[in-house]
Amino acid sequence: MHQPLFKGLLGPQVETEEVDPHTVQGGLLKSEAALVDGAAQTRVEQFAAGRVCGRTALGRLGVAATTPILRGEDRAPIWPNGFIGSISHTDTWCAAAVARTDDVRSLGIDLESSTPLKETLLKRVCTPKERAWLRTLPAPGVTGKILFSAKEAVYKCQYPLSKQFLGFHAVEIELGDESFEAVFRQEAGWFKPGDVISGRYLVEEGLVAAACELAR
Ligand SMILES: CC(C)(COP(=O)(O)OP(=O)(O)OC[C@H]1O[C@@H](n2cnc3c(N)ncnc32)[C@H](O)[C@@H]1OP(=O)(O)O)[C@@H](O)C(=O)NCCC(=O)NCCS
Repeated sequence: MHQPLFKGLLGPQVETEEVDPHTVQGGLLKSEAALVDGAAQTRVEQFAAGRVCGRTALGRLGVAATTPILRGEDRAPIWPNGFIGSISHTDTWCAAAVARTDDVRSLGIDLESSTPLKETLLKRVCTPKERAWLRTLPAPGVTGKILFSAKEAVYKCQYPLSKQFLGFHAVEIELGDESFEAVFRQEAGWFKPGDVISGRYLVEEGLVAAACELAR
């Protein structure tokens, strides 16, 4: 069991909910359950935890508990009209964050274990400038994992707007003590090179949590 991680990482108009996926029994609506029919138990558990978190958070914004969170062919969640959100899960923790599209243009969240980013992934995930910076740090592996998590959160935030897959070198992360800026290095939908998505992160209880949002 972890303390909630995301509330302080996102603005006041965003509702968040977090659970241990092992504690979620059932919880899927019929149309949601059909999306993971035949999937492995761990996957069903994590998918269910994400949907339960998402619907609980939407409930606080007035959405009926019977409104499903479906999934597109691109695997992105389909939020009810007028709402936007993001889901992330690990083996031990799951979170969803949602907001009204009148308040927030888009948002993205990501959870990772705070184990160091594998050396073999470093080149794929980090740009030459990011790698050069990491080499100057005492714990480059864990910081590399934060860059990875920030990029995943940014990916989920930009996707509903651009509808484009982006490789890890598409943005470069400038990391502060608790915040980050993701600078686009290429065009993606209405994002231009030099555009910035700002976010916040924390490392706590074996997890990295990263979140970003685009204000209206
Ligand atoms: C899609 C992706 C971001 C998911 O991240 P992950 O760390 O593997 O897994 P998480 O548990 O954090 O997130 C999974 C959730 O992401 C959401 N998701 C999947 N595709 C998505 C998309 N295109 N846009 C927004 N959210 C998406 C789903 O809700 C999914 O959970 P669900 O299937 O239970 O609904 C990742 O697998 C991926 O494809 N990354 C490559 C692209 C990238 O990150 N580029 C970085 C440059 S900006």
